[in-house]
Amino acid sequence: TKLKRAVIERVSTILNKKPFEVAKHPVGIETRVHDVKKMLENGSNINGVHVVGIHGMGGLGKTTIAKAVYNDLGEGFNGATCFISNVRENAGQPNGLVNLQKQFIEDILKEKNTFLRDVAQGKNVIKDRASRKRVLLVLDDVDNIKQLDALAGGRDWFGSGSVIIITTRDEGVLLAHNVKQDEIYKPQELNEDQSRALFMFHAFDGEQPQGKYVQLSNEVVAAAGGLPLTVEVIGLLFSDKKNVQEWKDTLEKLKKIPPREVQKRLKLSYDNLEDLEKKLFLDISCFFIGENRENATYMWEGCGWFPNAAIMVLVRRSLIKIRVINKMDEKYELFEMHDQIRDMGRAIVDEECSRKLQKKSRLWNNQDSWDLLQRK
Ligand SMILES: Nc1ncnc2c1ncn2[C@@H]1O[C@H](COP(=O)(O)OP(=O)(O)OP(=O)(O)O)[C@@H](O)[C@H]1O
Ligand SMILES: [Mg+2]
Repeated sequence: TKLKRAVIERVSTILNKKPFEVAKHPVGIETRVHDVKKMLENGSNINGVHVVGIHGMGGLGKTTIAKAVYNDLGEGFNGATCFISNVRENAGQPNGLVNLQKQFIEDILKEKNTFLRDVAQGKNVIKDRASRKRVLLVLDDVDNIKQLDALAGGRDWFGSGSVIIITTRDEGVLLAHNVKQDEIYKPQELNEDQSRALFMFHAFDGEQPQGKYVQLSNEVVAAAGGLPLTVEVIGLLFSDKKNVQEWKDTLEKLKKIPPREVQKRLKLSYDNLEDLEKKLFLDISCFFIGENRENATYMWEGCGWFPNAAIMVLVRRSLIKIRVINKMDEKYELFEMHDQIRDMGRAIVDEECSRKLQKKSRLWNNQDSWDLLQRK
């Protein structure tokens, strides 16, 4: 029975850690994974712990690379692996950092429902218990040194041979945490061939364009640039364009927005939605990220809206994602959204009426809600 239990335990740890889907249609991922692995080998490796920070702007593919590296290395760690997603967002929730520490304890130390009084206690537990373990830890989207202090406070917290990967938009956070220059990976944007491949996949469902669309596609690719998130969203936007004139009009709009204005470029896809789709999109970006589709649907149906077809459009355009989870034999569908796209949605709500709180259609920010409630 001992052997049986050991086998079951081993299999279930492996099964519970299914590899991530890296991207719908990954391009150029192998070279990026290769670069990170080389850096892990050749970096400073203080205390035998290999650290790589992945730094770059939103939508560049940092999370995607981190997932691919995690998938690639994961099996070598005997189940002692942990991928903490959206650290920035989650750490900002009530008890956020403690909950992330609990995730570490559950995934790596295999202890469920540990009671932690506060972050300081969590740090002690992790430090004491992980220091002789060889772990693979990904901290995705970190924006504050406190998050690193709470989850990977020092290299002596982990056993020799451990791998820590941190993604961030802010290089300063890495430097403040003593990540060395030779441990910071700055991925390049996609080159033109890679952008074209990604665009074609989304715009033509992987088929080759014909006739006038060949030249038009080349122009769109040139205008879209190499930021994977924009290439994906723009590709899906064009996939809904039915004729040459519509292609030309949308291309002209795209050309007018400078490449760095990512939100404005993403907004082209929003502008092209029907009214109901827009309303649902804004509701999700303000209130329903990580929430159950069913609950939101009750609310929308209460407004007399029939949301299902519109939700499918938003998914097809990559403006939202739906994650299916199974909990206690029940299936839940949760809404997800890329943080850049969420910020675009919230900015639209803010701009509707920037001065008068009471005129805003949605109050997503706690401070705004509080201010408004206090007035009456
Ligand atoms: N190499 C790639 N091939 C195909 N798609 C990609 C690639 N890199 C990124 N993407 C897609 O682009 C989008 C943005 O990527 P990702 O979420 O990894 O960016 P990020 O750098 O983590 O952004 P943020 O800083 O906002 O978290 C995702 O939808 C992802 O699937
Ligand atoms: Mg990310």
